[in-house]
Amino acid sequence: MSNEKYFLDSGSGLPILCVHGFPFDHTMWDVLAERISEDFRIIAPDLRGMGKNPQPVADVVMMAEFADDLANFLDMQGIKKCVFCGLSMGGYIGWEFWKRHADRLYGIILCDSNAGCDTPQAAENRERTAQRVLKEGTAFLAEAMIGNILAQKTVLEKPEVVAHYRRMVEENAPRGVAAAARGLGMRRDFREMVKCMNLPVLVLSGSMDVLSPPERMRELVAEMPGAVYVEIPDAGHLAPLENPEDTAREVEAFCRQFL
Ligand code: MLT
Repeated sequence: MSNEKYFLDSGSGLPILCVHGFPFDHTMWDVLAERISEDFRIIAPDLRGMGKNPQPVADVVMMAEFADDLANFLDMQGIKKCVFCGLSMGGYIGWEFWKRHADRLYGIILCDSNAGCDTPQAAENRERTAQRVLKEGTAFLAEAMIGNILAQKTVLEKPEVVAHYRRMVEENAPRGVAAAARGLGMRRDFREMVKCMNLPVLVLSGSMDVLSPPERMRELVAEMPGAVYVEIPDAGHLAPLENPEDTAREVEAFCRQFL
């Protein structure tokens, strides 16, 4: 159940570190955690600058800094090794975690994410987003992003998911969101590096994800030795929240190999 402070810690078995996307918080994993068996421990913190994470935030937070924060977080929880499960920005952080803390990984789950970096144009848009968030707050972002984040089916049929999505974005502090947006614009390109992936990888993608479309995810999987691709039906970019049943089943099936 959600820790009052800034993380979810549920179950008692093999640790699965769940890392949220931009600009969400750890509660995006709540409904998934309820569907995962006690053989696993779902541990999901808010990232620096988001949710209720108490750490200070500079003007930019780089993906590598988030990764090191997570390694420190694991230390604090007494966890030596985990499966890393990252959604979108959480996946970008996963590549940095792999490069910096590979000895702490059993495997990686990438949900609705990719291995590339921003084009110069996309990075400029990130800076514009950062400026506007700092000036106006995050409410406009929830509105601007919804069509890319949630499947139309979710918007029509799951008002509780829409409300959850809006709450996460709108309650995030502008400073943290701006810093993460800038970090996203400066992230490294991992497309060549993942060709040397030496760990089991599961790539999940919502069948209706327009930001990380299934065909791009399949291309990524084809480049990575030991990677498996699974499509989650009835979901856009937030598969663990839009279709927690199917996502939980796939996450569990993948993680059972490490028990
Ligand atoms: C996310 O969900 O983390 C974002 O879509 C990442 C991005 O904007 O690239």
